[in-house]
Amino acid sequence: MNKANMLYACGKSKSMYYGENQNEIVMHFLDSVSSYTQNKNARILGTGIVRCEVSSVLFDLLNKNGIPTHYKKNIGEGKMLVEKLEMIKLEVIPRNYAAGSIVRNFPVQYGQKFEPPLLKLDLKYNNDPMLNDDYIVALGIASNKELKVIKDLAHELNSFLTLFLKQRDIQLVDFKFEVGRRQDGTIVIGDEISPDGMRMWDVHTLESLDKDVFRFDKGDLVEAYKEVARRILL
Ligand code: ADP
Ligand code: CDP
Repeated sequence: MNKANMLYACGKSKSMYYGENQNEIVMHFLDSVSSYTQNKNARILGTGIVRCEVSSVLFDLLNKNGIPTHYKKNIGEGKMLVEKLEMIKLEVIPRNYAAGSIVRNFPVQYGQKFEPPLLKLDLKYNNDPMLNDDYIVALGIASNKELKVIKDLAHELNSFLTLFLKQRDIQLVDFKFEVGRRQDGTIVIGDEISPDGMRMWDVHTLESLDKDVFRFDKGDLVEAYKEVARRILL
């Protein structure tokens, strides 16, 4: 069997195939959109390609600015070639403004600014429970040393994206990213960085340009994602 056709994994919104060798993966972004908190799933045509395009542009920019990612290249049709990583079972979530679960679970005001930004680390398992440093080390998810690298990377990535998006009239509210280990143990950013895992508001109107459009039926999701892509590709 051709290695390129061998399925490596299939998640909720991507299929992954081996590339030329077993250290390379082709990530195929599917048109599926889901929200665990709103208990919603849908197939929305066009979302896969836009997520792939936005992720490719951002990953390329990050690589060029010394923020290491798994990205190698965009190969068209909603597919990108990435370096295979040993994924760390964390959802790393920097927050600049209050929205989503923090407003539901804590006494904070929607839209309240966090200065300095907050960092939330959830376990990628079942309903993604929130962790702390002790849990992460005790459960063997990452070592203390790795945890420090992950936190530094999160703050560096958040600062970089916040500035980049602000220059495009986008306010970065919060976002989720994933990390993994290269063969030599180095920790780099994996998975995707796209409107699917970010909260972004237009700086003037505070209108959502992200998955909240889908979560709360605020309008046309593909149009919101395309608007982000248009501004990012400027
Ligand atoms: P989910 O796991 O949330 O259903 P996806 O449909 O996005 O999500 O599936 C992508 C899967 O691939 C996720 O489990 C993610 O952790 C994993 N992954 C992302 N980047 C890499 C990589 N470079 N190497 C190996 N696995 C990866
Ligand atoms: O958005 P929700 O209320 O589900 O959870 P959150 O903790 O407020 O999410 C913070 C940010 O991470 C949002 O931008 C989410 O879109 C993103 N996220 C994600 O993409 N995938 C998850 N499994 C959890 C959060």
